[in-house]
Amino acid sequence: MGFLVCVCLLQLLFLGSSPAAAQQPSPTPSPARALDATLQDYAYRALARRPRTGIVYNGTVPGSLAGVAVSALRLRSGSLRRRGFPGYFQFALPAGVVARPRVERAVLVYSDLGNLSDRYYPLPPGYAYLAPVLGLLAYDAANLSAAGLPELSLVASATPILVSFGSVRAVPSGGPAPRCVWFDLDGAPQFRDPEASGNVCAAYRGGHFSIAVNSTEVAPAPASPAAIAPLVPGTGGRAAGNTQAWKIAGTVVGSAAALGLLASALLCLVRYKRVRKLEVMERNSEVGETLRMAQVGRAQAPVALWTRTQPVIESEYAA
Ligand SMILES: *[C@@H]1O[C@H](CO)[C@@H](O)[C@H](O)[C@H]1NC(C)=O
Ligand SMILES: *[C@@H]1O[C@H](CO)[C@@H](O)[C@H](O)[C@H]1NC(C)=O
Ligand SMILES: *[C@@H]1O[C@H](CO)[C@@H](O)[C@H](O)[C@H]1NC(C)=O
Repeated sequence: MGFLVCVCLLQLLFLGSSPAAAQQPSPTPSPARALDATLQDYAYRALARRPRTGIVYNGTVPGSLAGVAVSALRLRSGSLRRRGFPGYFQFALPAGVVARPRVERAVLVYSDLGNLSDRYYPLPPGYAYLAPVLGLLAYDAANLSAAGLPELSLVASATPILVSFGSVRAVPSGGPAPRCVWFDLDGAPQFRDPEASGNVCAAYRGGHFSIAVNSTEVAPAPASPAAIAPLVPGTGGRAAGNTQAWKIAGTVVGSAAALGLLASALLCLVRYKRVRKLEVMERNSEVGETLRMAQVGRAQAPVALWTRTQPVIESEYAA
């Protein structure tokens, strides 16, 4: 019985510490990935039955996504590569942009997440958006009634794609410099300096873009503007400070649990050994040694006459 408990505990211990069990990928996609799939659906619905290539079609989103804008643009891949598309809202696609894997025609889905930017693309602690998050993703145009399509990767070669954020929220003069932020499909932010004009970001990939400022760099000003997010003490993390903190917390909790399990396992191994010892003593009595039987706990246990301390079953200690 005690031995079974030991085995169970040890199994738990080793299962718990195996990396496969500790880092099981969550089966549900992140909210940002789910939103991409939803917006692909609404963008494709905006395309007429026989959409003209090179024409921008605005989509309509449900009330739950009020404030989000989505559009679709169907292009021949060859035309995109040779001529680019200079004005897809804030995005300027130069010649040389290709969608991979290669398709005959691609649909470029534009999105402006407006006031939902923070919800779907939370920034590391201390950062605040100065512009909405803008998305540019590419999909295969072969089936315009398809939903849940995988993204194509949009790649610029010699000349970058430019994202011109028209109206960027002003930062206090002398404060930190605004930075371009790009989210890959994992949702991890990467920060870069903007182009000379300050509100233009250059990119060699599709994805989600915005301009943000690290407000922890702002010196404690007496008249701190309410628009800037509350100051959060730096966690020392860089781009993924938030994730870092969660990882550390997870590691601490995990280690504590593992230690607890280890201690329990050791305790019950010791207990098992003592029970075995009693069994051996019992067997010895059968062999002929004079042993006095005594009531120990709820069990009859053999007790050597010369025993100084009465054996006591550990469950009485543990109880
Ligand atoms: C699409 O929406 C944009 C603003 O988001 C607007 O400027 C443009 O005129 C709209 N296009 C059509 C065809 O409705
Ligand atoms: C975002 O703005 C729209 C109007 O543009 C509004 O209807 C919606 O409630 C806002 N959503 C949030 C979460 O503030
Ligand atoms: C923001 O700036 C502060 C001060 O320079 C720095 O300690 C912190 O790491 C920065 N945050 C990020 C996420 O880069």
